[in-house]
Amino acid sequence: MARKRIAILTGGGDCPGLNPAIRGVVLKASKLGYECVGIQEGWKGMINAAAKPIGPDDVREMTGKGGTMLGTSRTNPYKNGCVPKVLETFQTLNLHALVAMGGEDTLGVANKLYKEHKINVIGVPKTMDNDLDATDYTFGFDTAATLAMEAAERLIDTGRSHRRIMVLEVMGRHAGWVALYTAIGAGADYLCLPERPVDIKDMCAKLKAAHARRDVAIVIASEAVDIPGEKKEEELDEFGHMILKDRGVAERLTKIIETETKIETRSAVIGHMQRGGPPTLFDRILGTRVGVAATDLVHEGKFGSMVALKGDAVIAVSLEAATAKLKTVTPAWLRLSDDLL
Ligand code: F6P
Repeated sequence: MARKRIAILTGGGDCPGLNPAIRGVVLKASKLGYECVGIQEGWKGMINAAAKPIGPDDVREMTGKGGTMLGTSRTNPYKNGCVPKVLETFQTLNLHALVAMGGEDTLGVANKLYKEHKINVIGVPKTMDNDLDATDYTFGFDTAATLAMEAAERLIDTGRSHRRIMVLEVMGRHAGWVALYTAIGAGADYLCLPERPVDIKDMCAKLKAAHARRDVAIVIASEAVDIPGEKKEEELDEFGHMILKDRGVAERLTKIIETETKIETRSAVIGHMQRGGPPTLFDRILGTRVGVAATDLVHEGKFGSMVALKGDAVIAVSLEAATAKLKTVTPAWLRLSDDLL
């Protein structure tokens, strides 16, 4: 008898941990007697029926590899009127189920396909932004924040040699988790998050005081931070999200800080470096666990669910609940950072 087929896709921005998660799905699927196909480049591959068989031998050595072996895109089939093509691909590839790995956008599409067309989907949460509400952590975040923390420490070294203030801009879209963890982890002097507008007076006073104490001061700024008095035309992607790459937060803050404090200031933007490279151990284990759990959910027929980390357990939550709202930095975390910085 032909084996049932599970398709896997990765959509949205890539992040470290995707390959271990794909590996988890494929190895568990093989144990349970399923075969897998890898959909190429996210929802774009479901529109174009671009798929390749993927078996245990393809994934065995993938646990430490960054990126996604399937490719990804920010294509939204609901935006382009391509949902019928997605449904057709599901039929022509003779799929039993689809495991969609992504953030709120990719999983939002998965949820709609499940609700409107009864497609057998299971969601796997991924994003370096860590902004999915239904799970404690998403893989990709630990690797991104660890790299950002190391970058901040390097900036502190060179900044101190030159008696400068340093500004590090990190990613994170509308949630400041990466900036927050980086600032706490690296012992930064100031934190600028999308969750609250920058208080320029407060920032400059604190930086001056820190610089006087330790010959260097460092600000960690999130790419989406709101700098008072400056508004720019923002471009949107297919999911209606602001494209943040041209906001130039680090550069703008640097000018303000230098003018206000009269202390020489430099900035660095680590951008996509946060999304590449080998996943940390945490992200390898989390990716693997949620990948394996996703296959278990397929086997149990619990479609319309997403795997989520709650405490130490990987559980199933509904895709509907998982995509209902974003997880932004909470007041308790803000208070903690205010106590330290
Ligand atoms: O959503 C993940 C993310 O890395 C955001 O932090 C960032 O704003 C965005 O992707 C960048 O996207 P792109 O790779 O399309 O420039």
